[in-house]
Amino acid sequence: MILVTGATGTVGGYLVRALCKEGAPVRALVSSPERADVLRGYDCGTAVGRYEDPRAMHQALQDVDRVFLVSPASARSAELEGAVLDAVRRAGGAHVVKLAAAGVDQPDRDGRFLEQHRAVVAQLDGLPHTVLAPHGFLQNLVGSAAAVQERGELPSLVGPAAMSFIDARDVAAVAAHVLSGTGHDGATYTLTGPRAVTYADIAAALSERLGREVRAVDITPQEYRTQAEGQDPWVVEGLLELSEVYRSGGASVVTDEVQRATGSPGLTLENFLDDHLSAFR
Ligand SMILES: NC(=O)c1ccc[n+]([C@@H]2O[C@H](COP(=O)([O-])OP(=O)(O)OC[C@H]3O[C@@H](n4cnc5c(N)ncnc54)[C@H](OP(=O)(O)O)[C@@H]3O)[C@@H](O)[C@H]2O)c1
Repeated sequence: MILVTGATGTVGGYLVRALCKEGAPVRALVSSPERADVLRGYDCGTAVGRYEDPRAMHQALQDVDRVFLVSPASARSAELEGAVLDAVRRAGGAHVVKLAAAGVDQPDRDGRFLEQHRAVVAQLDGLPHTVLAPHGFLQNLVGSAAAVQERGELPSLVGPAAMSFIDARDVAAVAAHVLSGTGHDGATYTLTGPRAVTYADIAAALSERLGREVRAVDITPQEYRTQAEGQDPWVVEGLLELSEVYRSGGASVVTDEVQRATGSPGLTLENFLDDHLSAFR
């Protein structure tokens, strides 16, 4: 049995769908009974529990031999995921597929998100595990949909740098492959899209599809902070740290891990925009 944590989230949601489609034995963990509604229509069992609830996690882990582990980026993610790992150990162990981020295995890369991920990876010691380390998700672009709709602008913190964004559906496809197969213990897979694109490329692809001009517009960190008012400041500063790495070309590398796992080079920017265009109209 595979337990998918974060089953109502971006990657976890796609992963539950992919595993159900394959007919794999899957149990989706949801944080409350109301959140189970998100998974209605999918042929999978659900368990209700929060990561920090040892009793609920013990119940959710019954007969489980594989776990997909994810939590939202936050100052508490290592603590929350660590609580899941404690429960996994108490339930007898399982192969854990941990969703981290690109750079987690590169000692020269720093930043708060990677610190949290590394703290979780350290806690995987002694359990069979695989680490998925994706670049930024194409799905993040939906966060700029209002600026595209209202002003025809695509705000960017990274200037002309190219980035090999990955579609979260491909992250889920690789996770499904690893969770259903063997031979991945101890591996860290850096996952990227099939090519690196600039914000100008993204704006051009949006313009073409929407039939009106969309321009990539550079914003300063301070403007970003203002636009992100109301969001968790820890996350906002973490994204600004990441944008510095991206700006210097640190996210332009393209790997073949998606191709190796799924047999397909992965979804492109154009595939993503075609499937999500209504969000930008
Ligand atoms: N976005 C990117 O570009 C990107 C790139 C590389 C790596 N990553 C990594 O991807 C991870 C986030 O993945 P995602 O975007 O798929 O996550 P997400 O959409 O934010 O979903 C997080 C999930 O965790 C669940 N959750 C949160 N706290 C919980 C708790 N205490 N107990 C039980 N469930 C809980 C949420 O459940 P409910 O909300 O339903 O309660 C939700 O299903 C982060 O580690 C991030 O560093 C992201």
